[in-house]
Amino acid sequence: MVEFTLPKNSKLTRGKFFKAPDGATNVRRFEVYRWDPDSGENPRIDAYDVDVGSCGPMVLDAIIKIKNEIDSTLTFRRSCREGVCGSCAMNVNGKNTLVCTKAIDEYKGTIKIFPLPHMAVVKDLVPDMTHFYAQYASIKPWMATQTPPPADSERLQSREDRAKLDGLYECVLCACCSTSCPSYWWNSERYLGPAILLQAYRWLVDSRDEGTGERLDELEDPFKLYRCHTIMNCTDTCPKGLNPAKAIAETKKLLVQRKLG
Ligand code: SF4
Ligand code: SF4
Ligand code: FES
Repeated sequence: MVEFTLPKNSKLTRGKFFKAPDGATNVRRFEVYRWDPDSGENPRIDAYDVDVGSCGPMVLDAIIKIKNEIDSTLTFRRSCREGVCGSCAMNVNGKNTLVCTKAIDEYKGTIKIFPLPHMAVVKDLVPDMTHFYAQYASIKPWMATQTPPPADSERLQSREDRAKLDGLYECVLCACCSTSCPSYWWNSERYLGPAILLQAYRWLVDSRDEGTGERLDELEDPFKLYRCHTIMNCTDTCPKGLNPAKAIAETKKLLVQRKLG
């Protein structure tokens, strides 16, 4: 039987508790994953009782309030606060999401906030996205052309062809889908995962792109594409309502069609 020895700091412990200010009338508890790699300490869960009556309505508003008013050591990413930059992706009560798009009222009881699962943690709620971005770069996410552009216009597209990009171009590369995918958890070194595969499909169906053959050659690989087993966590979790599983299925279909000639 295989035995695993857990690293010394693998234990998650209860951390500090920050009580709500006196006079708070609308208090919600947030339990937040904390880990500082420089401390040499175990990861811990800190609990914050937040007066949500005096903060904005979204989970991100509460996290910002914690940082600004309760505990400035809390580390997380955010930028746009309206679901377009993709940087505030976290796991809330077991499901990956963009915390700027989730209202506190959507959750009952304690709100538990963790970094995206199965990613190395840089600090607290910040995952290391280096590998994810390298995988994105690997699919060459730009238009491949061989022919010169028209002399008097840009490369144009019919309305129908443009519509084929709907449901794809909206992806904000938040990685909620990839980090919810069991196949990606176990094979992320070689499997591209739903986010990157959705992006790859976005270029495959762009009528202006002239690199379809090479793109399909690259994807025809037992690990890069075919580790998807249609578990559908990706589509279930996408905070933008996109369907990466469908994009993956369509890519597999393109490969079959190419084989059949
Ligand atoms: S459908 Fe494919 S990509 Fe999506 S969660 Fe399942 S295995 Fe992962
Ligand atoms: S498909 Fe959805 S969940 Fe996946 S990276 Fe794009 S926006 Fe995020
Ligand atoms: S802060 Fe930009 S998506 Fe949430």
